[in-house]
Amino acid sequence: MGTLLAGKVGVVTGSGRGIGRGIALALAREGAKVVVNDVGCDLGGRGTDADPAAAVCKEIAALGSEAVPSYDSVADFTAAGNIIKTALDAWGRCDVLVNNAGIIRDRAIVNMSEEEFDAVIAVHLKGGWNCCRHALPVMKEQKFGRVINIVSSAGLRGNFGQSNYGAAKAGLMGLTFVIAVEFMKGNAEGKYSITANALAPAGMTRMVGTIPGMEGRPVPPEMNPELNGPIVAFLASDRAAHVNGQVFGRRGYAYTLFQTPKPLAALYKEGGMSAEEIARNFDAAFTEHLSVPGIPQTAAMKQAQAAAAAKK
Ligand SMILES: NC(=O)c1ccc[n+]([C@@H]2O[C@H](COP(=O)([O-])OP(=O)(O)OC[C@H]3O[C@@H](n4cnc5c(N)ncnc54)[C@H](O)[C@@H]3O)[C@@H](O)[C@H]2O)c1
Repeated sequence: MGTLLAGKVGVVTGSGRGIGRGIALALAREGAKVVVNDVGCDLGGRGTDADPAAAVCKEIAALGSEAVPSYDSVADFTAAGNIIKTALDAWGRCDVLVNNAGIIRDRAIVNMSEEEFDAVIAVHLKGGWNCCRHALPVMKEQKFGRVINIVSSAGLRGNFGQSNYGAAKAGLMGLTFVIAVEFMKGNAEGKYSITANALAPAGMTRMVGTIPGMEGRPVPPEMNPELNGPIVAFLASDRAAHVNGQVFGRRGYAYTLFQTPKPLAALYKEGGMSAEEIARNFDAAFTEHLSVPGIPQTAAMKQAQAAAAAKK
């Protein structure tokens, strides 16, 4: 067992399955005690089942570390408080918070219901904020804390049929930047070792299993959801004290660092410009820099989608 997180207590939401399970195990492998939070719902957020969280606690015990289950929903403010309280009741600390719990209800925006939008925002964005709101005062008291928010390329770049999910994940990224700024050295709360970072993970989980072309496919080793765990364990550790407000990615065996949006080009005229002046000068200033929205598709992804479309 590693020692990167010896003495630390972590809370991983939605860690009864998939990517969250891999993260909970990775924290435990580095010596952390872990609250395995999971309501045990279906992919759309319906139903509850205690088994997934309990099963991961058993796996952590088998590794030689400690874990306690939590079945509260991140989407409810008071229940989210109970998730953090579970860590305090068990071990008196909460050093690491990984906001990972998630659901999807995909549909093209012209057909999406308000309920489908609200349900997804409630878990990813409000749920992330809820847990941060309860954990950060504890972290401040301890003068140590690490928040890792699990985001997605759907929010970084856009993805068809995911206006609820993409908006929630982009919001979670914005939340990450704001927490990072509030606790950054030189700012009001900067005297504490508290950081917030984001990770856009990847893994063949039930969430990905519903994407057209992915159903029933065997899991290639580079799509193992456990591969996301080590970078989260690093970001949670003392060794990552200098890493704050960054967005990382994981694809295959590569960990990537995303560029934070920054101005690429500018149109300038003293006193401002009219719409007509912008129209006249736009192409010369901006067109070569315009990006194509959406997640860049690999040849394999295009092939899988074409095969799925041909089947319909
Ligand atoms: N799988 C991928 O490739 C991928 C890519 C990008 C982002 N993500 C993100 O990674 C995270 C984990 O996804 P996954 O693929 O492991 O999915 P998953 O469905 O296997 O796991 C999500 C878990 O969250 C739990 N959960 C849902 N709502 C909850 C709530 N209100 N409170 C507590 N727990 C709740 C579920 O019961 C489930 O066990 C999500 O935030 C997802 O958006 C996944």
